[in-house]
Amino acid sequence: MPESCRLGRRRFVARFFTGIAACAVAGRAWKLPFVSEVRAADEPSDGVLRISLDDFPALDSVQSSVRLGINPVGDDSFPMGSHYPVLITRDILGRFRALNAECRHASCVVDPYDDFEQGLYCPCHHSLYGMDGSVLRGPATRPLRSHVLRVVNERTLEIRIPGLAFEVQPGVAPVRAGTRLRLTFRSEAMAVYSVEHRPRLDAAWQTAAIAVEENGPPNLTSVLGVDGPMTVFVDRVGDAGFFRVVAEFGEV
Ligand code: FES
Repeated sequence: MPESCRLGRRRFVARFFTGIAACAVAGRAWKLPFVSEVRAADEPSDGVLRISLDDFPALDSVQSSVRLGINPVGDDSFPMGSHYPVLITRDILGRFRALNAECRHASCVVDPYDDFEQGLYCPCHHSLYGMDGSVLRGPATRPLRSHVLRVVNERTLEIRIPGLAFEVQPGVAPVRAGTRLRLTFRSEAMAVYSVEHRPRLDAAWQTAAIAVEENGPPNLTSVLGVDGPMTVFVDRVGDAGFFRVVAEFGEV
């Protein structure tokens, strides 16, 4: 059973809101049908990650990088879920790039920029990549794949990541119909998920308390993914509102 998250990541930095279940609720009970509010991007499976450079002082310097993901990287240098991290690099000219950290030799996860190696180093068989993903040293023969990166303003980047979006199936919890909502979504192993609520479209999102059993206490603020479908429950808040499931993105 998932439990409140305690991951050894350095910190969580961005709240990635691909999975959104919006539910309009009127009167005293939840009412179906629910409506989907927003997709993460116009390509159905893409997600758009927006990050503030204020959260990454490392990227204030040239020749730097950070590695971000939703599931951790194991000691074997492979992802502990199905998603490979994103390497955001800044080259000597200050240009930003977003690269898929999957090594093109045998799919290990490539390290962030290494001062000693002067590049992005793969710990499995020592391939080395440049800040633009080009191969500096084999055995890899192909460059790292790039993600589309947009510089929104001086301090904000947006990165489009294929395959990251997930859908949330909402429903009324049968046992506590009228007071409790059931949210089911595809989760990644060891990824951290939370649920947020807002009473109106123009209101700020607030963290909602989660129960992991239909009749259990709503006493969690986040849960760990299980590499498969996951169901959580949230209680009704007011007479109307919207919920979304949030996958947290952090340095991995
Ligand atoms: S997997 Fe990266 S060098 Fe072999």
